Amino acid sequence: MSEYLDVAILAAKAGAEVLLRWRNKFTVTEKSHRNLVTQADLESQKTIEEILNQHFPDHGFLGEEEHSSRNLDSEYRWIVDPLDGTTNYVHQLPSYSVSIGLCHRDEVIVGVVYDPVLDECFVAEKGQGAKLNGETIGVSGIDEMNRALIAISLSSTVQPGSEEINQFLAILFRAQAVRRLGSAALNLCYVAMGRLDGYWALAVNAWDIAAGSLILAEAGGVIRHSENRTLDLDDPRFIAAANDRLWKEFFDAVQVTS
Ligand code: IPD
Ligand code: CA
Ligand code: CA
Repeated sequence: MSEYLDVAILAAKAGAEVLLRWRNKFTVTEKSHRNLVTQADLESQKTIEEILNQHFPDHGFLGEEEHSSRNLDSEYRWIVDPLDGTTNYVHQLPSYSVSIGLCHRDEVIVGVVYDPVLDECFVAEKGQGAKLNGETIGVSGIDEMNRALIAISLSSTVQPGSEEINQFLAILFRAQAVRRLGSAALNLCYVAMGRLDGYWALAVNAWDIAAGSLILAEAGGVIRHSENRTLDLDDPRFIAAANDRLWKEFFDAVQVTS
């Protein structure tokens, strides 16, 4: 295991400890309509940033909270969501995670997503496969939409009749079932280990998916921009699927107009 992955796991678990400590004590603020933040988000990010900075002072850092970024021109950049699934966390719904990705130039080379409630640590390094708590993971063999369990993320500002809703309806009537679970990072990991077969989102951010996109790709899954090109963390609209065949059916299904 590389030092990068070691430190990413250390930082993710330290951030997660902060989340557990703040349970039932936090106050909730709305950053914007339906977009929540608590002291747990802020303190977790502070802890993670400190650890990364201690080990790699020259690396760049981008964190979700407080527009936190530094050294973004650096060859190496950490992309951190200190609590992915804040709404679940606030409602004591146990499905949230810490997500830490490391980019070398434009490529994610390390990803860690840690769920502190289930104690599930998903990790990947570029070219080394993906693991859950030390065991190699792989995607499901489901290659038809009508047998697939699909997760979606809708934006907090979703509107009736929008592209997101029309695409959601298209999937709803084709997939075996659809879920909106509340942590983009965990959704990607669940496709990576076969609990889900696909996942789609038009309105997430780089910190939601940097780590998970590598974990999914290393587990044998497919993640591409929703316009059928290479995933772009600066424009992170995407479709993710267990395999190429399901990806293509998924892509065709969401070609609806708003
Ligand atoms: C949110 C979650 C959710 C997704 C939202 C994200 P947050 O992240 O990943 O699943 O639908 O778009 O913003 O705010 O809980 O870190
Ligand atoms: Ca997030
Ligand atoms: Ca977050």
